[in-house]
Amino acid sequence: MATLSQLDKAKMPKHVAIIMDGNGRWAKARNLDRSAGHKAGVKALHNVLDAADKAGIEYVTVYTFSTENWNRPKEEVDALMNLIAWGIDQEKQEMIDRNVRLRIVGDISRMPDFARHKTEECVEALKHCTGSTLVVAFNYGSRFELTSAMQQIAQEVKQGQLQPDDITEQTINEHLFTKGMPEPELLIRTGGEKRISNYLLWQIAYSELYFCDTYWPDFGADELYDAILDYQSRERRFGKTSAQVQEENNQA
Ligand code: FPP
Repeated sequence: MATLSQLDKAKMPKHVAIIMDGNGRWAKARNLDRSAGHKAGVKALHNVLDAADKAGIEYVTVYTFSTENWNRPKEEVDALMNLIAWGIDQEKQEMIDRNVRLRIVGDISRMPDFARHKTEECVEALKHCTGSTLVVAFNYGSRFELTSAMQQIAQEVKQGQLQPDDITEQTINEHLFTKGMPEPELLIRTGGEKRISNYLLWQIAYSELYFCDTYWPDFGADELYDAILDYQSRERRFGKTSAQVQEENNQA
């Protein structure tokens, strides 16, 4: 198990994205309701955010509810809405104390009113914070995000504000929910599955992927630091050769 002191501060990722998977299986293994797994997941998130803060990570983006999660049984969807509202409310004061900003990516208009109000209140209460950012992906799906971006860009072209030839990768970045955020250098998925599940597809083009078997409620500081240590051992080439990268590192 890695500790914070083993990590190279100079090679810390700025942005870590997380797919918090395995809450249901964690609960099942204990003969508990799936909602108990999600509740334990909120506690794990608290610990991981604390550990990320200590490591100086600027952005942590967590997948709390996907556009596809509406298809889960109604009682689980309701439990998740309650939990997200409760969790955000519960963490508000600590986030203020830790100077953390909260940003939501996704369409929260589909959230039940009580949950949306709690979320909006929290974003508002934290808007003067200047420290790290917790990004909550809620009712988020990459295909939905990219479709919305394409629609907005097409409107701008139709209205003559933009020429098709002027559309660049930057234009697309600026129309995503994640506008202005750095791309995640590291994507972690817990719970043993090895897929991306419609999460940040554009943004993770060059991210390092880290999959582990640990169910999310059991994922804590040590597991986060393990993932970062693994990330730091990798050579990020961005399409270049290893020799080119080493040459650049020698010059830096
Ligand atoms: C995946 O586990 C987890 C989710 C769909 C929900 C994650 C949400 C939280 C931990 C709450 C976050 C709260 C705040 C305040 C941001 P799963 O149910 O798919 O697990 P399984 O694959 O074992 O069934």
